[in-house]
This record gives sequence, structure tokens and C-alpha cells, in this order.
Amino acid sequence: MTFYVTTPIYYVNDAPHIGHAYTTVLADVLSRYHQLFGDKTFFLTGTDEHGQKVQSTARERGIDPQTHCDEYVEHFKDIWKELNISNDFFIRTTDAFHKKGVSECLQDLYDKGLIYEAEYEGWYSVSEEMFYTEDELVDGKSPMGKEVVNLKEKNYFFKMSQYQEQLVKYINDNPKFIQPDGKRNEVLGFLRAPLGDLCISRPKSRLAWGVELPFDSDYVTYVWFDALLNYCTAVGLHQDDEKKNLFERYWKHATHLIGKDILITHSVYWPTMLMALDIPLPKQIFAHGWWLTEDDKKMSKSEGPVVKPLEMKDIVGVDGFRYYLMRGMNPASDGRFSRELVATRVNADLANNLGNLFSRTVGLIVKYLDAKIPAQQEEPTVEAKALAKQAIETAKNVKNDIENIAPQKAIERITDLFNKTNRYLDNIQPWKLLKNGNSPEANESLYCALEVLRIAAILLSPIMPTKMQTLLKSIGYSKPLAFEDCLIWGTLESGTEVLKPQALFPRVEESK
Ligand code: MSP
Repeated sequence: MTFYVTTPIYYVNDAPHIGHAYTTVLADVLSRYHQLFGDKTFFLTGTDEHGQKVQSTARERGIDPQTHCDEYVEHFKDIWKELNISNDFFIRTTDAFHKKGVSECLQDLYDKGLIYEAEYEGWYSVSEEMFYTEDELVDGKSPMGKEVVNLKEKNYFFKMSQYQEQLVKYINDNPKFIQPDGKRNEVLGFLRAPLGDLCISRPKSRLAWGVELPFDSDYVTYVWFDALLNYCTAVGLHQDDEKKNLFERYWKHATHLIGKDILITHSVYWPTMLMALDIPLPKQIFAHGWWLTEDDKKMSKSEGPVVKPLEMKDIVGVDGFRYYLMRGMNPASDGRFSRELVATRVNADLANNLGNLFSRTVGLIVKYLDAKIPAQQEEPTVEAKALAKQAIETAKNVKNDIENIAPQKAIERITDLFNKTNRYLDNIQPWKLLKNGNSPEANESLYCALEVLRIAAILLSPIMPTKMQTLLKSIGYSKPLAFEDCLIWGTLESGTEVLKPQALFPRVEESK
């Protein structure tokens, strides 16, 4: 199978925050899982560098926009490095190859007669860079509650309305195209009203920072028209070099991860643009919810406190932070984020449940069995067989959860497996048996616990790559990680040496 995953490209007018970190970690986790499954993968992220917001921020700083972008892009690159993000490419919309691709797409649509010139009069939201009709305003503001100004100017329009019927049919025929289902219904609801044409230009007199229209040098293109095309130019659309092959290989497998506030641009503007350009549509658009504060406010710079990803990463560690992002939100709804919620979850799931299973299993092997993995029993007990069965079932279900973009469900299953294994050890009490000398029953229980740890650590490795490597190394497992090995019970070899356990996830203070 082939898997191509994208994040939105982020505006460089702001420092990276939890919203950016979430989608990027989610994309990273999905990409690492698909590699574990043996799929060919490509993971793209990047920055959206044109448009009004960036021009204004640069102007406020008294520097030219390119210098501003060159500086801000580093904040994103740095934080992705720190969060162990393994993207295959980082696109900037100011990259020359991207601008060339955008320009060729504009010319193509113009040549096909799908772009026309007209006088525009209406309402414009500077912060969203969107035009609205009078009817769309809510209490004199944009539907998102942003300020709007009245504008009258000559512009170029893309005949988006022409594709309304085709788009509705496509969405109905391909129920997985927009996910979750609630979001698909939202888009279909939006498409019940007549679709207008899309204004795709900005006069340079008002906004000079963008890709120039190839057919009128007094204009630059609308930032969203430019930005959406990144998903195609990054894998080679309209490129002459070897990148071209990537397009063939990856494009039709694209999964776009986005936040719910950019659903319409991705599910209406983008597919109609692609239809007009005669490019196949991506495989899926998946809109996740928002991170909210404990009192249910959206976390962003303008509304509510911004929890800097870096801050929590320093408290619970990179892997603990990645774990919370994946466990604390069902992507189909919203999630809550606070220092306390993160610390409580990391303590319960990682320091206690997983940490305890790991340290007591390996600790006992070191103490009583000369640090050597015991042999499997020829005739396993009913309990041991049940545990083996559950571990393999868990692996199969985790794969399914990941294919449905539900990492929180995958984690819940693995937590349940740890719970069962801890209870199983509590029943057998190998520490008591081993105190009295050699015990086949104790040996069997420790072997089973190690096998659970091996399978679970492979399954959790896309979420916590560093810590799971440490765990696997310490139970004597050094094979390259592959999902198939989670479907076979009993691959740890008896006699292999284990390493004295270290505290993988130290407990953290739950309140400040
Ligand atoms: N540049 C556009 C995207 C163009 S894609 C072709 C953009 N950039 S952004 O920097 O504003 O990024 C916003 C992303 O962060 C969106 O996906 C948005 O949903 C997400 N988040 C911002 N705050 C958020 C939360 N509090 N929680 C989760 N994600 C949210 O939009």
C-alpha cells in the first residue's frame, strides 16, 4: 500500500502553538505506523508564507516579508526537530518551484476560460483572508466572528460554481472522502446553498506579497489558491526534475489532515480547483477537532492562553507529550489540554501501568534468573494462552484503528492489555514463587509479560519512538521493527540477556 499524508501549511505570522503541534504529531504518528505496516509513505508539512497576514506582520516589524519568513520558518523547523517529526519534505510557498507550479495552474485555468475578470463589491475579512456576501455575515461579522470591511475592486474569479453538482455527487459517491461523517454532512449542508465563484486575485496596490498572476502583473493570487496547491507541487506537479515521479506514485493516495476551521477551503475550494485542473482528487480530507482549555475555550494566540508545546515537552518529555496529544483527543471531536490533564494521564498510563509492568518483569528476571529470558512452557496455561490471544488481537485492532485515524482507540486497547497483564502477574505472584527457588509457573508468567511488552512496544513505537526503542533494547529485542512481528507470539529467545530496567517515565507533579 501507499500512504501520503499532509498537514496544513502554517502561517508564519505566529509562533508554533498546540494546534500546529497536534496535526504535525498526528501526521508523524500515522506516517510512522504506515511504515511499520510496510507501506510506502510520504509525509509533507511546511509553511504558508504569502498573504495579508504575513505582509502586515513583516510591516509591523519594519522588515521585508521574505526576511520575516526566513526567520519565522526556523521556529517551525526547530520545534519539529525537537518533537521528533520525521517529515519527508518541508515546503515553503516562497520556494521557486512551488511558485512556478502555481503560476502554471493559473495559466491553465485562464487558458481554459475558467478564470474571468469582474468588479467585486462585498465584505472582506482580513484575518481570514476570505470574501463574504451580505447574506453570509452574522451580526455584521464573518461566520467565524471576525471583523469584515467593505471592499469594491476589480478582480479575477475562478468559475467554482460550475463544479457544484459534480462535487456533491463525488462526496455522495465517496463517503470516505470527507471524514469524520459529521464533517462530510457539514460540507453537504454548505453545498445546499448555491455556490458562488471564487475570487482568486488581490490587486498589488493592496497586497503585493504573493504569486503574481501570469496574465496580469498588477495582481497576485489569493493566498488560499497558492497554499492549497502545495499538496501537489511538493510531490512534483509541474516540475521538470525527478520529483515528477513522486506525483505518479503518491498524489492519488493523499490524506489531508486539517483542523475543523479550514474544512470549507479544503473540501470545496480545493476539490473544485482540482476538477478544473483535471487532476484526480485526494483520497481523504480528515478534519480534526480543536484543543480546548479546561473551561472549553479554543486554545490559540488570540483567544485564550497558548500552551507552548515546548513547555509541556520539558515537563513530561517529548514522548510523554506526543503520547498525550494522541491519547487526549478523539480526532473526531475536541480534546482538553492543561498541565494537570497531561501530567495525570502520563503518570497513570506510562509511569504506573506500563512503567510498573516493565520494571517488575525485567527487575525479577535480573534478580532471580541471572538476567536471562526464561524458557516458554511446552504446555502454556489457559491464562497464558488467553494473554497471547489478546496481544495478537490487540495488534490487529490497532492496525484497523490507525487506518481509521483513531490513535486514541489504539492506545486504549494497549492500555487494556497492560492492565490485564499486570492483573495476571498479581494473581501468579512470581516474586513469591521465585523467592522459594526455581518455579516454571513464575518463569512462564515472566515470559508472557515480556512478550506483551515486546508486542506493545512495537505497537507504541510510532507514538513514542525513543522510549520504546529503549524498552525493546532492555528486553533484548534488536530486530528492525515490523508490524508482522506483533502477530507472532513467542519470538523472544530464552537465554537472551535483559538489561537492568531504568525508569522510562518518571512520575511528574500533577499540579504546579
Ligand atoms: N495557512 C493555513 C492553512 C493552509 S493549508 C493549505 C492555516 N494556517 S494556520 O497557521 O492558521 O494553521 C492553523 C491550523 O492549526 C489549522 O488546521 C487549525 O485548525 C489548527 N489549530 C489552530 N488552533 C487549534 C487548536 N486550538 N486545536 C487544534 N487545532 C487548531 O490555517
